[in-house]
Amino acid sequence: MTSYENIIVTRDRRTATITLNRPKALNALNEALMVEVVEAATTLDADRSVGAIVITGSERAFAAGADIKEMAAQSYQDMYLSDWFTAWDRLAAVRTPLIAAVSGYALGGGCELAMICDILIASDTAKFGQPEITLGVIPGIGGSQRLTRAIGKAKAMDLILTGRTISADEAERAGLVSRVVPAASLLAEAAEVAHKIAEMSLPAVYAAKEAVNRSFESTLTEGILFERRTFHATFALDDRTEGMTAFTEKRPPKFTHH
Ligand code: CAA
Repeated sequence: MTSYENIIVTRDRRTATITLNRPKALNALNEALMVEVVEAATTLDADRSVGAIVITGSERAFAAGADIKEMAAQSYQDMYLSDWFTAWDRLAAVRTPLIAAVSGYALGGGCELAMICDILIASDTAKFGQPEITLGVIPGIGGSQRLTRAIGKAKAMDLILTGRTISADEAERAGLVSRVVPAASLLAEAAEVAHKIAEMSLPAVYAAKEAVNRSFESTLTEGILFERRTFHATFALDDRTEGMTAFTEKRPPKFTHH
């Protein structure tokens, strides 16, 4: 497996974990880390033996945002010409389910990275926020869009305009995260979710993720049509035949991911 400088990639059965590993900078997302996360995730995404990917940080910080020290000296021209942050769009295009396991700070780009993921699991110590306004900028990795879709306009405006940080409990009440667990069991919980998803039929999982994501991009009528056609398409899968046969025979399914 490729070795990286800012992340650690591990495999366990049909799952993988990407651990952000810049502890001295609270996992601030510099360019090198971004390139490595995207490279690791796209490589794992192309591997049919990987059915789910967990992205996590340390107990103290999932990620404290984009690297302010790296950005400080950049001009508008630098940012525009390099299309700063655009590589993260390749992470959003990954078809394998991404599970963010968040402990400690998930601020700015850290919160945005978590929101690129499909399922957010937070430890009870997690703190979410978009403090970019306090630096005289605005979110740049999709925060103004994904946060608003996740928790609604009033709360997104509150966070983005004041830069305030919310607790894991408030994030759960707002619908930003799906579960809050004690810090000590965060990784075990995320691994359990990842293994559960990875046991399912991979093409059915891709189709389900695609259908849910389509709801962000389309009207209800278009989204329902997309879902219906995708549902019909699952009838071409060997795994669909196996799943329904196993149900009628009262036994667990043996999916082949075809
Ligand atoms: N970029 C670069 N370095 C960072 C960083 C960041 N986003 N966040 C923390 N660090 C560094 C600190 O500079 C410090 O390094 P030194 O020891 O060399 O001084 C180290 O990490 C530890 O941080 P603190 O000493 O500040 O730790 P703390 O416990 O006192 O505070 C914190 C923790 C509240 C998270 C604080 O570090 C903080 O406010 N960080 C910045 C948060 C932020 O504004 N994030 C948004 C960034 S902009 C962005 O993300 C744009 C976008 O939309 C993509």
